[in-house]
Amino acid sequence: MKFSSLIAAATLSTAAAFAPTAFKPSTRAFSIETNLNMALSQDELKKMVGYKSVDDYVKSGMVVGLGTGSTAYFAVERLGQLLKDGTLEDIVAIPTSVRTKEQAEELGIPLVTLDTHSKLDVAIDGADEVDPDLNLVKGGGGALLREKMVEVCADKFIVIVDESKLCDGLGPGFPLPVEITPFCHMHTLRTVENLPSVAGCKAVLRMGSSSNNQNDGDEVAVTDNGNYIVDLHFTEPLKDAALAATEIKATVGVVDHGIFCGMTTAVIIAGADGISVKEA
Ligand code: 5RP
Repeated sequence: MKFSSLIAAATLSTAAAFAPTAFKPSTRAFSIETNLNMALSQDELKKMVGYKSVDDYVKSGMVVGLGTGSTAYFAVERLGQLLKDGTLEDIVAIPTSVRTKEQAEELGIPLVTLDTHSKLDVAIDGADEVDPDLNLVKGGGGALLREKMVEVCADKFIVIVDESKLCDGLGPGFPLPVEITPFCHMHTLRTVENLPSVAGCKAVLRMGSSSNNQNDGDEVAVTDNGNYIVDLHFTEPLKDAALAATEIKATVGVVDHGIFCGMTTAVIIAGADGISVKEA
């Protein structure tokens, strides 16, 4: 994909969104010319959707949920920029992880919690998988519990992804994270693995960092909430994601899971043909 074709296909507002950083007016033409043969990196795609989500959906005076992950990072960055330059004011935000909280604090974004603000105007977050009905798998970054708690309270939940996250059916494209209590966790792991709605999956206890599923350490991964994560690996799509969500959630010892059904307002997708928005 050529840089120029993505720019041409991207919406005007997104191009404008980049003006203060990547495409300063005086250098924009030069940047496009010099990058004609350069494919946009995944990070550049993430930045485009992250910035667009804030530009299009956040207005002054709002309570905003801030997601977690490498895509949500750019939405938080953009919110910080627009608060700093005065484009946005009177915003308070609720972060969905310690990492996001730290990033927001560094950017001077005023933070509150659900304890004082139970209703959000908008929440913005990435996802690991998005199916045709805009149901999601989330929690690759280990923040699924706080993400769900915050995002379910938002009037609008805006999901930002590059097109690699789109799938025909949830499951095989990305292991489904399930947050469980540490107490007798192997018992809970086996119980979840044997639920009828997830038959055939392989449950793997997350090790190392809780913020990825690479099992990059010898210690059990611990979430921001002091819990463990089990990643369910599938070879076939879930036949009924809503049923799986219900069964997993009803399992004693499970805190929550990464199936986000019926929550999405819109998905902003960056891909080879530019940026598109899919609404529920
Ligand atoms: C964290 C999440 C993330 O939103 C999800 O993993 C996507 O992350 P990234 O944008 O880095 O691909 O659910 O718990």
